[in-house]
Amino acid sequence: MKVYFIGAGPGAPDLITIRGAKILSEVPIVLYAGSLVPEVVLTHCNPDATKINTASLNLDQQVEQYRTAKHNNQSIARVHSGDPSIYGAMAEQMKRLDELEIDYEVVPGVSSFTAAAAVLKTELTKPNVTQTVILTRLSGRASAVPEKENLSSLAAHQASLCIFLSGRQLQETITELSRHYKTDTPIAFVYRATWPDERIVRGTLENIMSLVNPADWTLTTIILVGDVMREELPSESCLYSPEYAHKFRKASTKSATTAGGVL
Ligand SMILES: C[S@@+](CC[C@H](N)C(=O)[O-])C[C@H]1O[C@@H](n2cnc3c(N)ncnc32)[C@H](O)[C@@H]1O
Repeated sequence: MKVYFIGAGPGAPDLITIRGAKILSEVPIVLYAGSLVPEVVLTHCNPDATKINTASLNLDQQVEQYRTAKHNNQSIARVHSGDPSIYGAMAEQMKRLDELEIDYEVVPGVSSFTAAAAVLKTELTKPNVTQTVILTRLSGRASAVPEKENLSSLAAHQASLCIFLSGRQLQETITELSRHYKTDTPIAFVYRATWPDERIVRGTLENIMSLVNPADWTLTTIILVGDVMREELPSESCLYSPEYAHKFRKASTKSATTAGGVL
């Protein structure tokens, strides 16, 4: 008997991993976060599996499911949206499983921040723009963000920022970001990336609030901000430059960089 924490991906049923789908097709019990994992992802489940939406269960009630499954020697898939390591409340479950001496395994998933980058057709790291991606959120009722990680201090890095769980605080987010980013910095709101009702709005820190009705973005919205989304900043890495040599490719001109250069 084992518990599998499975990343469901952002919503589209074909964005779960092959490993995750295979486990779903085999286990007799599936716990899933119904507010974020659409029913269509559960089509990967065995038709005879018992499916339990955890939205209405507290941690003790979920642990009770694990305890019963151990008693019956039945494996469980615990399906989280995106990747379970990001805002997945997985650690607290693992602690309880350790106490119950239940074995577990984690199957990673496509996180919503990479899904959002994909639907926006943007790269999050660009040479000479930024080589850093910061994943963060504003403080919420369930979890406070430590003061040393407040949004305005992260904005000071001018990196690519992916802001989760903050759709209810759009104006506060913009205000904090504007302390460090230029007002014309690109920003995008992505609602339900890869779901059939996906919505995207692009703007700048200065104008995006005039382009949206905030009430439409309160749930399942991720915010991406940064100069990487500036279309007027073409930048190419050395990696594919004809002059750049490395272990697997010779340079095609005399001004070649020697092998072993930093990629
Ligand atoms: C509890 S967190 C889970 C994050 C998830 N573990 C991940 O890796 O994407 C829920 C937040 O993730 C973001 N999110 C999850 N799925 C999303 C999607 N399909 N489109 C946009 N944002 C999404 C939203 O910010 C939402 O409020």
